[in-house]
Amino acid sequence: MRYAAVTDRLATMGGARWDIHARARALRAAGEAVIELTIGEPDVPTPDALIDVAHAAMRAGRTGYSNGRGEPGVTDALAARYSARIGRPFGRENILCLPGTQTALYLILMSLTGGGDEVLVGDPAYATYDGVIAASGAVSVPVPLRPEHGFHIQSDDIAARITSRSRVLLLNSPHNPTGAVLSMAELAILGQLAERHDLWLVADEVYEDLVYPGTGFASPLSLSNLADRTIVTSSISKSHAAPGFRSGWCVGPAEFCTRALPLSETMLFGSQPFIADMTEAAIRAPSPVAAGMTERMARRAALLRDRLQDVAGLAVSQPRAGMFSLVDIRATGLSGRDFALGLLDTEKVAVMPGESFGASLAGWVRLALTQPDDMTAEAAVRIARHAARLTRA
Ligand SMILES: Cc1ncc(COP(=O)(O)O)c(C=O)c1O
Repeated sequence: MRYAAVTDRLATMGGARWDIHARARALRAAGEAVIELTIGEPDVPTPDALIDVAHAAMRAGRTGYSNGRGEPGVTDALAARYSARIGRPFGRENILCLPGTQTALYLILMSLTGGGDEVLVGDPAYATYDGVIAASGAVSVPVPLRPEHGFHIQSDDIAARITSRSRVLLLNSPHNPTGAVLSMAELAILGQLAERHDLWLVADEVYEDLVYPGTGFASPLSLSNLADRTIVTSSISKSHAAPGFRSGWCVGPAEFCTRALPLSETMLFGSQPFIADMTEAAIRAPSPVAAGMTERMARRAALLRDRLQDVAGLAVSQPRAGMFSLVDIRATGLSGRDFALGLLDTEKVAVMPGESFGASLAGWVRLALTQPDDMTAEAAVRIARHAARLTRA
């Protein structure tokens, strides 16, 4: 049978990158005690109070159809939140609710790009970015994020890759997998570039509530001169430990939201009212779990750094936010993938190969900071033992 070209474009961009995670899960199902440092699941359950809101809303009959933009309660709550944070007015017309940042990114890129358009994006990047860019027929233009710059995207590196087909600069701050957080000054420079070359500035801020002490979060929404070209997306997946609820949004110019709305309606015909009610409750109050998660993840990142920094063959980078640490294993002579496969086989520790996030991260591995401290410490012992075997060999 014949299929559309999009199925070919996305054929290699799905689950294949997570095969080590799938292997780890299979080993666990077979009874092996695998320490799983692969995916970025929050380390606590969704708060009971939010589950209660969703449950009560379902019982109260909030199970009918909604609308494509989002329930008025949640769009108003988001508008109030961004107005207060950013210091300029946002209204319902600036918001679209979607099932998670992932779907929002899909909608945004489908609305802004088409065949042959170019999207400038940091390399490494979250593993699904290639797919959301390729879905519309656009092309990813990787901009290397260099360890010597703390993995902060550099405007010169972007400028060198801008062409007449460039449409979007896709940012992710706080960044997965590097944990880098862009400052207001850096965003302002990137904004000038976007203005000069008439680019959209799209920012994935899903880790905005997981910034470690000593680092400040900044959003390009604060650059009011860029208001007509900036779209931000986020969700309650990380901030409220609720990824399974699939509740996110994008915030941007009213014109963008009006233009994108029919696409959202075409895909979804609205989200679930009981999830909208739960999301409204979540964002109207401070998150009951974000501060604790941030503290634990910062502590585990420091623990991994302390335990691994003197191990021959390894160099550990220090995240400023989010759920992951990166380890440079190039001195072992292996690819990230071979290191990770060997680690899983011999030490039963599952980590993600850097190659899953882009060519720039070849020879690195990503460690999730989501396991309890004692398990994280045990993983460090096993990783050090694995590296010692490799460097001896
Ligand atoms: C950078 C980044 N963006 C988006 C997502 C997906 O988030 P959501 O659950 O809101 O779709 C993730 C999930 O890990 C992520 O790391």
